[in-house]
Amino acid sequence: MEELTEVLQATEENLLLAARLLREGELVAFPTETVYGLGANGLMAEASKKIYAAKGRPSDNPLILHIASMEDLPPLVSEIPKEAKVLAEKFWPGPLTMVLPKSSLVPYETTGGLETVAVRCPSHEVARRLLLLARVPVAAPSANVSGRPSPTKAEHVFRDMKGRIPLIIDGGEVGIGLESTIVDLTGDQPLILRPGAVTREMMEEALQTEVPYDRAVYAPLEEGIRPKAPGMKYRHYAPKADFLLLTGEEEEKKEAFRLLLKENTVKKRAFLLSASMMRALSLGEEKGRSHSLGESTEEMAHCLFSRLREMDDEGAEEIISECFPEEGFGVALMNRMKKAAGGKLRSARDIIEEWSDRHDSNRM
Ligand code: TXA
Ligand code: MG
Repeated sequence: MEELTEVLQATEENLLLAARLLREGELVAFPTETVYGLGANGLMAEASKKIYAAKGRPSDNPLILHIASMEDLPPLVSEIPKEAKVLAEKFWPGPLTMVLPKSSLVPYETTGGLETVAVRCPSHEVARRLLLLARVPVAAPSANVSGRPSPTKAEHVFRDMKGRIPLIIDGGEVGIGLESTIVDLTGDQPLILRPGAVTREMMEEALQTEVPYDRAVYAPLEEGIRPKAPGMKYRHYAPKADFLLLTGEEEEKKEAFRLLLKENTVKKRAFLLSASMMRALSLGEEKGRSHSLGESTEEMAHCLFSRLREMDDEGAEEIISECFPEEGFGVALMNRMKKAAGGKLRSARDIIEEWSDRHDSNRM
């Protein structure tokens, strides 16, 4: 049976209602500085299970526990390594999730059967107030239907979760736009499982040691590398349209974009995704079929998921984008773009060659 889904502003009164629902084991979506989360009481197995049902999420994909401050951490974990103290001191509250050995308090329904638990202390004012009022750790994945782009506005959550949850707290558009960095502190060496706004360089500086990426962070999906964050193995953040990422030299990219857009106007509704409108024009795009992300990595990250959803709404059948530099926060941006593209990275040169092969054979 469908539930009535209310969307309420983040007033104190509404947050009190949300906190009560959470404590009683209901689901509430709320804003964080990264993306909107779909919250449940993380210590109540039955509540965590509701999250999987509402999202259509595979049950082996663990959830992140959100806490109001560092003081809420000790009961949830069996050990706090010194790296965790340093990172929490430096980056909490903020977009950093730490994977630690779990305590017996945390149910396996929350950790997807794992002996470890992911914990983060968000900095968004609304999330902080809600966590303080709820007085329980809140398990919260991104509040999208599994496989769709993460929500950065309450209306995205409403689209995906309407009829599945009782309440969405609307705190406006989120700031960062990509999910938190996940660092695993249960091994011999800290390991980045998912890149985010707290970058490798920032953590290396804080810890004065190397903090490598899990191999799956850069790899396209089809390489069969098993990521250590179970959620990273799924095609993720995906728009309904085919999404193609182009690599190559500037001139080749221009030519490949031109050929792809020319072919696709006849066959399909194609869109070009580029950094800026200037950039779209320099890539040979006529007005009207381009979406821009912004000049800086921060702007691009902020817009990415929202743009993917907009292009879906406009009936895009194919989205073509260039790749951006994989440095600093750009690693996170490209990680999400590759996941959204289902690993589809193509070289501009191959596209040009295929095109001319096809046209040569047509002439014969
Ligand atoms: O920014 C964020 O982290 C957002 C907001 C709502 O806080 N949440 C979020 O949750 O992105 P979700 O469920 O969409 O992604 C959680 C990721 C998944 O890839 C999951 O596999 C991984 O964290 N994860 C959770 N617990 C883990 C654990 N114990 N070990 C390894 N990976 C874990
Ligand atoms: Mg997610």
